[in-house]
Amino acid sequence: MGKTLVIVGGQWGDEGKGKIVDLLTENAQMVCRYNGGNNAGHTVVIGSSMFKFHLIPSGILHKGTMNVLGNGVVIDPQVLLQEIDQLSSNGISISEKNLVLSGSAHVIQQSHIDEDTKKGKAIGTTGRGIGPCYEDKISRSGIRLHDFVKGSSLEAKRLKPFVKETYIIVNDAHSKKQNILLEGAQGTLLDIDHGTYPYVTSSNPIAGGACTGLGIAPQSIDGVLGVFKAYCTRVGSGPFPTELGTEADTMKEKKETLLQKTDFKSAEDGSEYSQGMILRKQGAEYGTTTGRPRRTGWFDIVSARYAFVINGMTGLIITKLDVLSKLKKIKVCIGYDYEGKTISTFPLDGEVLKKCRPIYKEFAGWKDSLETIKSYDDLPKEAKSYLLFIEKELKIPLAILSVGPERTQTLILKKNLLF
Ligand code: GDP
Ligand code: IMO
Ligand code: MG
Repeated sequence: MGKTLVIVGGQWGDEGKGKIVDLLTENAQMVCRYNGGNNAGHTVVIGSSMFKFHLIPSGILHKGTMNVLGNGVVIDPQVLLQEIDQLSSNGISISEKNLVLSGSAHVIQQSHIDEDTKKGKAIGTTGRGIGPCYEDKISRSGIRLHDFVKGSSLEAKRLKPFVKETYIIVNDAHSKKQNILLEGAQGTLLDIDHGTYPYVTSSNPIAGGACTGLGIAPQSIDGVLGVFKAYCTRVGSGPFPTELGTEADTMKEKKETLLQKTDFKSAEDGSEYSQGMILRKQGAEYGTTTGRPRRTGWFDIVSARYAFVINGMTGLIITKLDVLSKLKKIKVCIGYDYEGKTISTFPLDGEVLKKCRPIYKEFAGWKDSLETIKSYDDLPKEAKSYLLFIEKELKIPLAILSVGPERTQTLILKKNLLF
């Protein structure tokens, strides 16, 4: 009996979806991207090799898996071809046997990139032309792959064999009871309808986006796995209630600067900037797509619960727990203070969210590195109580725990929620 599972980001993107998709693809016959474009950046680490994907689904490293870019995706032909060539030069051959593109996907053009570069600064967009391309799609003036590949450019000729009626391919696989992964890019809080508008991306990363972005029916979906970091990050502008320290443009430290003992001391003494910097450094929180330092903060139960509801999550995946090691105290936001009142539901009015101050519950940290942990029982007791609290608050069973970037640094805890 096959299953169709959605992998969705529960925060502001970069939750580690790529690693999880790669891992789960071992048991999947098909992986489909349903939204976004090359604003996404997914890093997959296997042994000493590191792969970075922007458009091609993170399942491509597994032989025999079909990868699909659905109609909901926007495609920059040059970027896609570069990615195909790079994979080929790494010995992973790409053809229409393992990659198909929906003809209804819209094409990013140079004019979109130019417009995004000019206008996207206030939002802090990735500058890849994503917003302007979706604008043309919605105003019915865009160019779809169907038409693009009728042209005579080299890109058009090279991409033509990949263009198919992907809705047939996806629904056939479902009828044949194959295991299918539907891979969302970005995260719930960046959703154009349900995120922190206007500081959002221009597509629907939420689980519902899988239906519109691929042409698959809601009842064909068997489960939704929500991926969360053990803390929070955000790239670009917009409200971030649990943010520690400052926004990206005023961050002082460089990527190369190493953490000092004094940083841990000032974090213990209560410096939020140092706490945020430790998360950024230990988590290597610099964007895959733009190299920008990611803003960092504590785990936020209020927004996570919202993400759970909006997506109908059936299983919880927590990544990067290892990054919290060595911190003496760890905090989780359990509510917001808004003008003296406590609120526990996520406000969608940006003016309200901006003024929300986090109410924290504090946890004891742990010293040991978690990178070699092989079973849940081996986790420090402090880490277990931290996880248990999140799991209980969100009321979703923890299906996977990730304790390092490598495929092997993963604990599968609830196999029945997976394939
Ligand atoms: P995505 O956009 O959701 O696919 O996430 P990204 O790949 O942009 O960012 C996640 C980063 O964290 C990548 O560099 C991963 O290699 C890395 N990563 C994933 N899981 C873990 C983990 O459990 N621990 C650590 N330390 N790094 C992780
Ligand atoms: P993955 O798939 C994190 C953010 C940008 C900006 C906003 C709008 O790797 O999780 P856009 O270029 O989409 O118009 O920018 O959305 N953003 C992401 N942040 N991870 C991503 O993707 C993102 N894709 C877009 O930083 O704030
Ligand atoms: Mg990313």
